[in-house]
Amino acid sequence: MNLNELLGMAKGFASSQLILTAVRLEVFTELGSGPLSGAELRRRLELHPRGAQAFLDALVSHGLLERTGDMYANTPVAARHLDAQHTETYLGGYLGLNGGLYWLWPQLETSLRTGRPCTGFTAGGDGEWGAEEGGSEQGGGQPDAAQQDGGADGQEGPLEWSAVYVDAMAVFARAAAPVISRSLDWSRYESFVDVGGSNGTLAFELLRLQPHLRGTCVDLPALKEQFDTMAVRAGAGDKVAFQGGDFFEEPLPETDVVIMGRILHNWSEDERLRLLRRAFDALRPGGTLLVFDQLTDESRQHSRESSLASLDQLLFSESGSEYTFGELSGWLGACGFRAPSVQLMDGGPEMLALAVKPE
Ligand SMILES: C[S@@+](CC[C@H](N)C(=O)[O-])C[C@H]1O[C@@H](n2cnc3c(N)ncnc32)[C@H](O)[C@@H]1O
Repeated sequence: MNLNELLGMAKGFASSQLILTAVRLEVFTELGSGPLSGAELRRRLELHPRGAQAFLDALVSHGLLERTGDMYANTPVAARHLDAQHTETYLGGYLGLNGGLYWLWPQLETSLRTGRPCTGFTAGGDGEWGAEEGGSEQGGGQPDAAQQDGGADGQEGPLEWSAVYVDAMAVFARAAAPVISRSLDWSRYESFVDVGGSNGTLAFELLRLQPHLRGTCVDLPALKEQFDTMAVRAGAGDKVAFQGGDFFEEPLPETDVVIMGRILHNWSEDERLRLLRRAFDALRPGGTLLVFDQLTDESRQHSRESSLASLDQLLFSESGSEYTFGELSGWLGACGFRAPSVQLMDGGPEMLALAVKPE
């Protein structure tokens, strides 16, 4: 690392707030219909003249906008992921949720000393997370925001049940489906269970790509309503069932393939082993387990995103962390799985691991 990179890292919060503010102001949605002059954009965004040009030019220098003369336009990546009119690929909701982590990171030192999530963790009515002065501590055994009082859209319950969170995660689930569809010879199989499958986005997308399959989406009962909405939208409600219940308590249905996407990293090693054993028990001989998470590289020296994601987990969960494929292979072997392998997933930061239940 050189000095400029060091200084850039120390000011990383500025770039973070730049993109989050631009998303909140809907800069990219405003530019969704075509380029606008700086003056017109400033008028539409209701910005004071003093900072407007520096703000827009900072977005240009960060690769989110292009400027020709005085005309600003979205770059391709901003058009695809930050213009709210592109509902299938829009990541603004997800970035807004991530933006809430901004308020947790100043408490990193405390969590590093205590090994506990930071206190007073709340979800605001606008879909953001925040740390509240003098709030109560999170209780044990719950992942993510499971101890919160209010969902991100104001409903009672954990953040994971809120429409903002579910919609944000659905973008990644849609991106994961083609990779999962290509990763296996699905013609050998008839059924799958998506464990912690949220509102069923991945299940319905997979079904669109592999129409002969039948699926079950297992998640907490609170997700049922959002699953039903998704089933109507997908027009395939008869092909995917919803099993509402605690995946640590309710047996998983017998199946050919079990999918666990972004589940294991929320839990402790003991809990991961419990979930993997349940997957093993549910699979028919010859069946396949698919796990995707943001795996850390074996040397733990190169996975910047994954090590930061582990610190996110420290800040908001009781026992979650990212893990390496080597660690996962050990847990899989202990549960009876064979032939673990791993592949990159395009369209997201995760890796996809596969393992087989012996015939
Ligand atoms: C991080 S989300 C992952 C969602 C989805 N698999 C994906 O890849 O986007 C974790 C999911 O697990 C569900 N979940 C958490 N604890 C659970 C439990 N004890 N039983 C069943 N589902 C649970 C949450 O409701 C949420 O939908």
